[in-house]
Amino acid sequence: MSDNRVIGIDGGLPWRLPADLAFFFRQIEDCYLLSGRKSYESDQGKEIFQDKSFVVVTRQKGYEPQGGKVAHSVEAGIAIAEADGAKRLCILGGGEIYRQALSIADKLIITEVHTRIENGDTFFPDIDPQHWKEYKRESHKKDEDNPYDFSFVFYIKIE
Ligand SMILES: NC(=O)c1ccc[n+]([C@@H]2O[C@H](COP(=O)([O-])OP(=O)(O)OC[C@H]3O[C@@H](n4cnc5c(N)ncnc54)[C@H](OP(=O)(O)O)[C@@H]3O)[C@@H](O)[C@H]2O)c1
Repeated sequence: MSDNRVIGIDGGLPWRLPADLAFFFRQIEDCYLLSGRKSYESDQGKEIFQDKSFVVVTRQKGYEPQGGKVAHSVEAGIAIAEADGAKRLCILGGGEIYRQALSIADKLIITEVHTRIENGDTFFPDIDPQHWKEYKRESHKKDEDNPYDFSFVFYIKIE
């Protein structure tokens, strides 16, 4: 997310940040994936879900994600992942799904992209410091491939 919490514009990502993409793929390596239908259908979706076990959350009846399962709520998606034997579930967003999943998650892995995006339309919800503790932060400077400074930030839930 950007400094003003933007995560999306017009159905896509607000930036091209290859270092973040590489970090993201490392984080989801051993994950069963859960995604909102809109993020699943976005351009970046195609590469992400290839060869992964995943569940897409939608209200549509008869929706059939190719190679994945479908659920009609976040909770039902988690139950499907558990029934499939998932050891680790990564919830990939987007904004609508993050808002519903924040109270369920036990860990947050956030890339802070240090810029303001003024025309964003999708946002990451507030992270309440009463419930979340930052325990690791790796900061990086922009370079010729990555146009903004960015930080990888890890939070653990405190009850
Ligand atoms: N920067 C990042 O890390 C990041 C990550 C992911 C996504 N994004 C961006 O975020 C944007 C997409 O996010 P979004 O908030 O618009 O959409 P989203 O969360 O990806 O998907 C929303 C859809 O999920 C389904 N849904 C949500 N809650 C549900 C529930 N309780 N029960 C059943 N179905 C439910 C509905 O699908 P139906 O309409 O089919 O019923 C809804 O339209 C894109 O711009 C994407 O690029 C950014």
